[in-house]
Amino acid sequence: MSDAKIRAAQKALDYIKPKINSKSILGIGTGSTVNCFIELLKSCPALVKGVVSSSDASTRLLRDIGIDVFNLNDIDEVEFYIDGADEIADDLSLHKRWRWCTYARENYCKQPLRTFYVLQIKSKIVSKLGCFPIPVEVLSQARSFVARKLTTMGGTPKLRHDFITDQGNEILDLSGITIDDPISLETKINSIPGVIDNGIFGLRKADKIFIG
Ligand code: 5RP
Repeated sequence: MSDAKIRAAQKALDYIKPKINSKSILGIGTGSTVNCFIELLKSCPALVKGVVSSSDASTRLLRDIGIDVFNLNDIDEVEFYIDGADEIADDLSLHKRWRWCTYARENYCKQPLRTFYVLQIKSKIVSKLGCFPIPVEVLSQARSFVARKLTTMGGTPKLRHDFITDQGNEILDLSGITIDDPISLETKINSIPGVIDNGIFGLRKADKIFIG
């Protein structure tokens, strides 16, 4: 675990501690930075009632340290959602690689009423999003159709081989399209039938970032 990631996680925990109580449900994302946050929760598992998690990987880690992981269907509200990102722009819009099998479940954090905190290291702050392909989660049966649509938009979609998300979907990594307007590109990609979600978080940006 890098010191910067641990520092970002510690800052976030210090910040939210006074805002939560033993009845709170936290949303927890996925990735090595989030893992640092989970590690810190080890010393205070009773801080919250439980969590919802964006991936099976985070769920396992959380359960290992004795934290209850709820299904989103079984709870009323998640007040805070904590996640990492791979690029973050000045206006706090994000771009994620989705190397983990989480994707569609990150939709939790796109809910407007939740406060969305992102743990970050300095090197991921960019003036413009898009230095790696945009991951697009698709229903397997719609993969070719979606790929043709993305090609019509001017992009080059490439199937991520041997990779299935926790929800059983596939990923097309889309290159050749610049992210000039994150909101309109995110919306345009998501409007293709068969697309579950994509790695641009422009519609639901971070509310606050913690830089380690
Ligand atoms: C999970 C993600 C991660 O938050 C993102 O990839 C950052 O990962 P890391 O904290 O390991 O650098 O998007 O889907």
